[in-house]
Amino acid sequence: MTKIDDILSSLASRRGALGIAGGLAVSAAAVAGARTVLSQPVPARTTPASPGSAPVTGPIPYGASVSSDDLPKDPDYQRALIRYCQQVVPEYGLKWSSIRPASGKFDWGPADAVIDFAKVNRLGVRGHTLVWYEAMPDWAKKISTAAEAERELVTHIETVVSRYKGVIKSWDVVNEPLGEKAISASQLRSSVWSNLLGERYLEIAFRTAARVDPDCQLVLNEYGIETTIPQDRGKRTAFRDLIRRLKDKGVPIHGIGIQGHINAERAIDTEGLASLVGEITSMKMATLVTELDMIDNKLPGPVEVRDALTAAKTYELLDTITRVTRPSAIITWGITDKRTWVPMWNKRDDGRPNRPLPLDADYRPKPMWSVIEYFSRGRA
Ligand code: G3I
Repeated sequence: MTKIDDILSSLASRRGALGIAGGLAVSAAAVAGARTVLSQPVPARTTPASPGSAPVTGPIPYGASVSSDDLPKDPDYQRALIRYCQQVVPEYGLKWSSIRPASGKFDWGPADAVIDFAKVNRLGVRGHTLVWYEAMPDWAKKISTAAEAERELVTHIETVVSRYKGVIKSWDVVNEPLGEKAISASQLRSSVWSNLLGERYLEIAFRTAARVDPDCQLVLNEYGIETTIPQDRGKRTAFRDLIRRLKDKGVPIHGIGIQGHINAERAIDTEGLASLVGEITSMKMATLVTELDMIDNKLPGPVEVRDALTAAKTYELLDTITRVTRPSAIITWGITDKRTWVPMWNKRDDGRPNRPLPLDADYRPKPMWSVIEYFSRGRA
């Protein structure tokens, strides 16, 4: 038995949700499932998280977001992306603050660095993102009338989507539409767009993208909707209502992105999340996991324990979703612990480096990778 298997088996032998180190919650079913994946050989079926629900199988393309700053400088980084990914996402290069330095100017350089790499290596590309409240250049923050906002938004989407038509086959059209503590669909995140155009900005964005590239998968992307904390429960309800409202108006949304930035000490709301995914599926839209990582600042320090727990939590999330539908993508936000946004806001008190991603800082696959690979291959 490996040490990780030891850790997981000791967790699996307990019953129900586990309370360890500061309210850490991992379900016994997730631990048992992850343990099965990590021990060889892997059987076709694992312990069901909710008895009676048959898992949906079939391959799911895996991908990662990519830093255009680091890509050209690091051959190991390039090799890892080619080896593990079927698709990539520019992590910053397509955001307004990078691509749109002035109203009349587009800077394609950083996005193209990632997209050209993808083309050469025959990887797919997802686009992130056409509209967001954050990463806005100063000039755009000063937009002050509804007419100007609509004009800039439409120009932006027409220009960017048409440039990458046929290359970017899936776009996060609107990112993070809801306020942090939203409990209703009308509590949109404050931004130039929502303040000047109200909910109409979402409609404008999706309709413009659909007009420019009718074959592209258009996605509404959100975070903070996965766990059992009250804030996530409220936001999940608000998100579901917003999706329904937009679909009722005939807005061309083809997919819903569940970001999956998981505070790994929290419990996945398996029932609530499955119900959201069920509704998405019943509205004939795809579900995507768009920005998966495990925020590990509240987990115990030892690397093997932490890695076992993040693998189990990853299992819990992906198992919950794939029991309802086959997501059209599983994307992690970064691929290696060497470069991740997580320490920007979630440094550990003990000074140890964060380990949120499937490969460690030396590009070695972690248990989290085994879990992702298992689901990406269609539970094989
Ligand atoms: O390296 C650049 C440089 O080229 C640039 O000119 C300069 C100016 O700011 O600094 C560097 O840019 C930084 C960029 O990351 C690239 O590393 C930005 O300052 C920094 O703000 C930016 O942070 C990104 C953040 O979004 C804000 O755009 C993170 O990398 C990125 O991981 C994070 O991603 C978000 C998703 O888009 C949405 N969901 C949450 C997720 C995590 O916060």
